[in-house]
Amino acid sequence: MTQLWGGRFSGQTDPLMRQFQDSIYFDVRLWEADLDGSMAYARGLARAGIISEEEADVLQDGLDEIRAEFAQNRFELKAGDEDIHTAVERRLGELVGEVAGKLHTGRSRNDQAATDTRLWLKRQIVRLRAQVVMLQQAILAKADEYFNVIMPGYTHLQQAQPVRFAHWLLSYGWMLQRDKERLDDLTRRVDVLPLGSGALAGNPLGIDRPFLAEALGFAALSANSMDAVGDRDYLLEFLSWAAITQVHLSRLAEDLILYSSREFGFVAIADAYSTGSSLMPQKKNADSLELIRGKTGRVAGHLTSLLTTLKGLPSTYNKDLQEDKEPLFDTVDTLMLTLPITTGVVSTLTVDASKIYDSMDSAMLATELADYLVTKGMPFRQAHHLVGEIVRKAIELDQPLFSFPLAAYQQFSPLFDRDVHQWLTFNRAADRRTSPGGTGESSVREQLESLRALVGEKEDDE
Ligand code: ARG
Repeated sequence: MTQLWGGRFSGQTDPLMRQFQDSIYFDVRLWEADLDGSMAYARGLARAGIISEEEADVLQDGLDEIRAEFAQNRFELKAGDEDIHTAVERRLGELVGEVAGKLHTGRSRNDQAATDTRLWLKRQIVRLRAQVVMLQQAILAKADEYFNVIMPGYTHLQQAQPVRFAHWLLSYGWMLQRDKERLDDLTRRVDVLPLGSGALAGNPLGIDRPFLAEALGFAALSANSMDAVGDRDYLLEFLSWAAITQVHLSRLAEDLILYSSREFGFVAIADAYSTGSSLMPQKKNADSLELIRGKTGRVAGHLTSLLTTLKGLPSTYNKDLQEDKEPLFDTVDTLMLTLPITTGVVSTLTVDASKIYDSMDSAMLATELADYLVTKGMPFRQAHHLVGEIVRKAIELDQPLFSFPLAAYQQFSPLFDRDVHQWLTFNRAADRRTSPGGTGESSVREQLESLRALVGEKEDDE
């Protein structure tokens, strides 16, 4: 077994050390990006006159063959393949002979690994973004389907004020909209080509970096070779994005776990996303949602892991940076599951409007009573206090606010009139909130349309 860097060494690497430093068992996933990068680099070398066009053709044919081997799952790893970069180079030598040894001229695995990772991530971002859009579409459709359902809105997990079911659900649509915007923004900083930075000092061969960027579809070139090989900010940003997005999914999951419990009964989760108990025959658990919530720990952990790895590293490349990949890969894999599972749960859930209605406490109309008194001229602070006393009395008499008699209201204030009971419906309470962003029918209809326009619009420019 020969190593790429074997010339300097007379002794053998300890087998455990070899195992310790090998990254092939995870970075093999970068094969496509690695081949694309090498194709472009071979062309770049020919343009710079370092190799002939014929040699570039030979390299390209060899790389094409390796691509076919990977695509058909017949690429064979060999002992000594430390990472994807060495594995490809070794195989290229077997296929095309000595000319393979020219490919790495002026290139380092430092700029190569960074290039591969960025290229790979750019492609994953396209997939993830599409998943976010699909979840938003499921949210929009479900909000539309149950547009007229009024439910309790909670603060501190206590019934607070009536809101539209659509308003609650769309709140997650807006979180995802910000997630999408964050992803688009950070993509600009992923979309920077490090290739041509060499190990740390740059490329001495007159390699045409704008040509490489164009060939690989990068929007910009890194401006400093030392920064380029040591920079993992783009991964920190991506992992932060993933952690925030996953937190949003987790909070939605938590709401739905509560709302689907027997005590709430607001929604039913489809059988397709539930599982049973091995002991209790009656059980139907929302395991999909618990796993979405549960996986948030590992995604947040991956961000912490890379932050900790980077802290205190000296300039440019250090082998510590090889530790960037497993957290990245697992984060992408996790979100590529949690996003579509959430979409499945949302698009198949059913809402029990009468269960929701039965759960609603008329005390949520207390704010309406205070507002009523305000329209009759009472200062809000005084109205708030007075309605507090009314609520206490109503609890004492076990009387819901909407059937509390007019005479009883009038004992608290002469401002109460015949029209008071008209104010005391959940629908009216919700629909009075017509300010932009409020839960009134017109406002929610508007926000649904504006989110729909944003989701649709973004789709078009993909
Ligand atoms: N597998 C390595 C990584 O992912 C490649 C870079 C190795 N560079 C080096 N100078 N040893 O970071």
